[in-house]
Amino acid sequence: MRSDAERWNARHAAADDAGPHPPDLLRGREHLLPPGGRALDVACGRGAVARWLAARGFEVDAVDVSAVGLAAAAAPGVRTIEHDLDDGLPPRCTGPYDVVVCQRFRDPRLYPQLTAVLAPGGLLVVTVLSEVGVGPGPFRAPAGELRAAFSGLEILVDVDGGGEAGLVARSAG
Ligand SMILES: C[S@@+](CC[C@H](N)C(=O)[O-])C[C@H]1O[C@@H](n2cnc3c(N)ncnc32)[C@H](O)[C@@H]1O
Repeated sequence: MRSDAERWNARHAAADDAGPHPPDLLRGREHLLPPGGRALDVACGRGAVARWLAARGFEVDAVDVSAVGLAAAAAPGVRTIEHDLDDGLPPRCTGPYDVVVCQRFRDPRLYPQLTAVLAPGGLLVVTVLSEVGVGPGPFRAPAGELRAAFSGLEILVDVDGGGEAGLVARSAG
């Protein structure tokens, strides 16, 4: 069986360059972003979000298993980190981060770590595939998974429907 890295290297190599652009859930909500600081983009892919954050002055750690994706993510202000998230966050990514983004990648084992590395007042943006509106699937979150996982944060945006769930939340300042 091909590894995550092999499968995703092939997909990223075939992809058109995209971005930079904000995380989907921050489109039109850019005012929620802290003014600057450190950011973590988990499973960053080709780094469209990481590069957007760097262009806004954040120092970004961009993590992915795909070397091909990370090569496209490289930009001033972006530190690329090749790492298999099956092993949790990279040991060097202890934070604190003012922004943590994990978009279109779901591993519930990471949820406590995403909260733990947030700075006081830090912003978390997460999107995953969801069962809501489409039915169960191997990579899909059951209804309310994100809300429950991040209930210790102040939830600012909470969407779940049409096969996608997402959350924007802030840690206590
Ligand atoms: C659907 S893409 C999302 C990319 C990016 N976050 C975005 O919103 O465009 C999922 C990403 O997860 C990465 N990925 C898959 N399995 C992984 C693993 N075990 N460890 C680290 N990254 C992984 C893939 O390389 C891919 O870049």
